[in-house]
Amino acid sequence: MILSTIVIALWGFISFTTADSSNSTTDAATTSYVPIFQNAIPPALTIGVEQLPNINNDSAVDANVAAKGYSVVNITNTARGLTGILKLKSATNIYGYDFEYLNLTVEYQSEQRLNVHIEPTNLTDVFVLPDELVPKPKIDDDYDFARSDLVFEYDEEDFGFEIVRSSTGETLFSTKGNPLVFSNQFIQFNTTLPQGYAISGLGESIHGSLNEPGLVKTLFANGISNPIDQNDYGVHPVYFDQRYSSNTTHGVFWRSSAPQEVVFEETSLTWRSISGVIDLYFFSGPDPKDVITQYVSQIGLPAMQPYWALGYHQCKWGFETIDDVIDVVDNFKKFDIKLEAMWSDIDYMDSFKDFTNDPYRYPTDKYRKFLDDLHENNQHYVPIFDAGIYVPNPNNATDNDYEPFHLGNETDVFLKNPDGSLYIGSVWPGYTVFPDFLSNNTQEYFNILFKDWYNRLPFDGIWADMNEAASYCVGSCGSGRYFDNPVQRAGYRFSDQNSYPKGFNVSNATEWSSISKSIAATATSTATTISTSSSSSLSIDAKNTLAPGRGNINYPPYAINNMIGNHDLAFRQISPNATHADGTLEYDIHNLFGMLEEKAIYHALLSFRPNKRPFIIGRSTFAGAGKYTGRWGGDNFADYYMMYFSIPQAFAFGSFGLPFFGVDACGFNGNTDMELCSRWMQLASFFPFYRNHNVIKAIPQEPYRWEAVISATKTSMDVRYSLLPYYYTLLQESHVSGMPILRALSWQFPYESTLSGVDNQFFVGDVLIVTPVLEPGVNYTKGVFPGNGDIYYDYYTHERQNFTTGKNETLDAPLGHIPLHIRGGYIIPTQEPGYTTTESRQNPFGLIVALDAKGRASGKLYLDDGESVEVEESLNVDFVASNNKLVGSSFGQFKVDQPLANVTVLGVDSKPEKVLFNNNTAHFDYTNKTIFIVGLDKIVGNGTFNKEFTINW
Ligand code: NOJ
Repeated sequence: MILSTIVIALWGFISFTTADSSNSTTDAATTSYVPIFQNAIPPALTIGVEQLPNINNDSAVDANVAAKGYSVVNITNTARGLTGILKLKSATNIYGYDFEYLNLTVEYQSEQRLNVHIEPTNLTDVFVLPDELVPKPKIDDDYDFARSDLVFEYDEEDFGFEIVRSSTGETLFSTKGNPLVFSNQFIQFNTTLPQGYAISGLGESIHGSLNEPGLVKTLFANGISNPIDQNDYGVHPVYFDQRYSSNTTHGVFWRSSAPQEVVFEETSLTWRSISGVIDLYFFSGPDPKDVITQYVSQIGLPAMQPYWALGYHQCKWGFETIDDVIDVVDNFKKFDIKLEAMWSDIDYMDSFKDFTNDPYRYPTDKYRKFLDDLHENNQHYVPIFDAGIYVPNPNNATDNDYEPFHLGNETDVFLKNPDGSLYIGSVWPGYTVFPDFLSNNTQEYFNILFKDWYNRLPFDGIWADMNEAASYCVGSCGSGRYFDNPVQRAGYRFSDQNSYPKGFNVSNATEWSSISKSIAATATSTATTISTSSSSSLSIDAKNTLAPGRGNINYPPYAINNMIGNHDLAFRQISPNATHADGTLEYDIHNLFGMLEEKAIYHALLSFRPNKRPFIIGRSTFAGAGKYTGRWGGDNFADYYMMYFSIPQAFAFGSFGLPFFGVDACGFNGNTDMELCSRWMQLASFFPFYRNHNVIKAIPQEPYRWEAVISATKTSMDVRYSLLPYYYTLLQESHVSGMPILRALSWQFPYESTLSGVDNQFFVGDVLIVTPVLEPGVNYTKGVFPGNGDIYYDYYTHERQNFTTGKNETLDAPLGHIPLHIRGGYIIPTQEPGYTTTESRQNPFGLIVALDAKGRASGKLYLDDGESVEVEESLNVDFVASNNKLVGSSFGQFKVDQPLANVTVLGVDSKPEKVLFNNNTAHFDYTNKTIFIVGLDKIVGNGTFNKEFTINW
């Protein structure tokens, strides 16, 4: 059997480990963990050197035990804090050489923010993260120093520090009692934690919303398919500590781009990194949402997305020709399922080369016509863009005709090897170079190429994939070899590949048995190649140079648990020794690659479409990336456990300043089925970013493929599109304050400890609570409805629910129904749904007024043109209801022609005699304690929201 037929996944490694096996169905590949290489790079170049992660090494030295720490030499008070010098007590050089003197700076930056910065006095061998790459939070101009909620205290002899909350006297963070370790390749500190802590954050990884004792989080960007509890695409070095003992939450952000590791124990947390300096920011909250907004407003507020981004997006890897893509768009129309944006994976490219399109399968004229037609129908198009730029073979004139490489090479924008030659890795097209975002010319390089591409094929946004950045070989494997290119068969390469449906190993046991043997045999032969080809077997000690300098950056003395492959830091990544224009090592800023690329794409798009909000969805992000991009969750699996994980993932990304988040609905890897896809299309419809995407050769999963999915999808899409004004208002709130759109119950009700870690339900804003079905074969789901005396209404029937606080309620949820409830006390704006967001925006508005127990409710609406970066005219409408009266008052210049047509008032005890709109009698029905005021447009005329109005009942 040839290798291609046993390939399970072409895009990389698949780990089918599932933490929650009870939730996962059997998969044909459950037991396999198979390296798959998609191109003809010699296998020996893809292996790397086996590393034993320190956390798995029983004989590794425990730095907390061995190190001697520092003592304070002197401390000087400053206007906003203090500075001081720390001296090493005795060198132990455990995982690097220890710095003898450290500068300590403490800055009280605002009433809620405190910075502790520690770095060596001599910075020769140290990477200090520049402000231009990740802006450093600054002291607020005029805050009252005396009112700081955070206090820094320290021990002199054995240096350790504490951060205390002044209002409660509670210690929030304390390194006292454990030595500070600070060497060129290893920094470690430790804080005590209360028993039973509730800490979220530290991404990214696939995990429930809280981090529990025993968990080790590795913070090192890699491009692997959503492994549970391991490092994944992006890095977000921040945590949020919610303390029910004092009803407060605080946050801790380590502004470091270094590879890191965080170990959670019963009553402590140990935080390590293998480069950089200590630059910690403490945020005092005191509520979870306060901490998140305090943090996000420092790292960078999320970009305002264009209105159309809220529509539905369809993608699939494996549309061989432009006709396939056109068919999908037509089918959506045929089945009357809304489609806002069509996406293209790497299929459209000519031999997977960025900025190209295949002349036969995606000929420019037909492609262009397709885009013009889409735009004509108010639809949008988003192509993929990969981080690696193909290196053509100079000895092959046709192949060598690839301007994006030559332009970049001539303007010197690519990453280098330490000796100054091009760093050449390998991705889909074969050997590739990688843009260096620290080079002065890279932005211009992007501006030119993106503009040129756009002029040929006017796309509406960019999907920034593979930007960890992934490279399929170890090190600069193309150096001296790139003239072997093209290593790929040109044209469409994947048509002969197979994938295996769920349960394949059961239903096709005989075939699977031979396939799995073959896979095992390939893995063994590859492993043999590895051990003979890897020259060094570096022991922990051998890696430690113990001398000044940067140390061994390819194989650092402390091996973090980089989960991919054999733990080599260069495995499927750009190698740590790749060198940036100013000499910065990839080792120090690998975690920033994705964000820097997203930033460059953002500015490139703006360069030729000034004032149009760039739409970007990225794969690898760092703290602050939300300024430029939204995020999808990466390569998930078509299974129920992954559908569940999308919820804590959304909470995490919301708290990381990336509220515009969604995952591949119906699942990316593996084949989905009707039931899973129905449930997922409904759940995903509540995520800010709503896209269905799956892997090549898995069965197609557009929602029109199954009748039940069509109906479930239409139902949910109608709800979503009705709620577009509400979602847009939430987007804008995120943009100006950093507030997440999807919210954990524990953020909404921070004093109810029973809600800690609830992540099978979520709020959209403050008002809607979604309780999805997350398992197969059931027609009910369970959820809690918090608050003391809070009222919840069923979204669909408008009925007030008899929920008991604290009870896990059972809700009917037959296939096609996703329970959705409205919390009393709120008003949400709606709009009649159209086929696209543009059409929806032309329809009349509505309001849902959900009264609380006292007959009150309030809400708001934000609108603008939906696309400008510099918004000149906007409209804010405030709605307030009480005493049988609703008042709408607006401010702002943006004109809204559409009328208010319907108002639904929930929770009205008796039928009113009449309803008046601005003293005009309005038509209404009353049933189920709900007033339905309809046909208002007939009496109010257009532009209701531009004037104040009153409705009495
Ligand atoms: C990896 C991405 O995560 C996935 O979504 C995409 O389909 C493949 N690359 C192919 O481009």
